[in-house]
Amino acid sequence: MPTAFSLRPALPADMPNLGAMQHACWMHAYKGLLDDSFLAQLSPAGIAGYQGKHFDADGNHASPRMPFIVAESASHPNPIVGFVRGGPTRAKSASGDAVPPAIVTNYPFELFGIHVAHDLHRSGIGRALFTQFARAAQSYGENSIVLWVLSNNAPAIAFYESLSGKPVASSPLTLGDKSYPQTAYAWNDLSALLA
Ligand SMILES: CC(C)(COP(=O)(O)OP(=O)(O)OC[C@H]1O[C@@H](n2cnc3c(N)ncnc32)[C@H](O)[C@@H]1OP(=O)(O)O)[C@@H](O)C(=O)NCCC(=O)NCCS
Repeated sequence: MPTAFSLRPALPADMPNLGAMQHACWMHAYKGLLDDSFLAQLSPAGIAGYQGKHFDADGNHASPRMPFIVAESASHPNPIVGFVRGGPTRAKSASGDAVPPAIVTNYPFELFGIHVAHDLHRSGIGRALFTQFARAAQSYGENSIVLWVLSNNAPAIAFYESLSGKPVASSPLTLGDKSYPQTAYAWNDLSALLA
């Protein structure tokens, strides 16, 4: 039977469960794609702390123009079964790598990250999160989205291509002491996607 889930804005109280979900997701999805030494220094609490910085000054809501949406399922051992987060396109990666300027100019809104509990992949949660994120971008007057994906992350690329994303650029990402090729995927017309 399909897993029932609902979407809602993230709250600070979600961060411990979200950190545990993203950590397990990375250990599963990124093994072999990222160095073991980089993965070994990640922790659920460290991820929860990083994601927990993205709330408004009142600490209760995602920052303005920065959608942060969780998928929740009461029937799963960890009720936070996915999330998506984004905002105005970053000129540098989280590690400080410069992004091609044309990407920042042509695509002002970026999806920073999308993750689904690894035991629930292919349940439609990612598609629902992505669609909700696209609606949030539209509500801010944006009609395009860009994101970066590791160029060897074949499942994620298949996911983005199933949603009609197109590769538009490549640029390296530094994690730890290693550089990884990344591809930018973009959507030029959210109205058409959401029609
Ligand atoms: C990428 C990710 C968010 C997709 O979420 P998901 O909930 O599994 O995706 P969905 O079930 O909504 O899939 C929608 C469609 O995408 C395509 N798709 C998704 N995963 C796929 C895979 N592994 N292989 C081929 N196609 C895939 C399919 O067309 C799928 O539709 P279908 O199942 O009816 O055939 C999820 O796999 C994930 O968390 N991966 C690990 C973290 C990650 O890589 N995040 C992206 C970072 S850039």
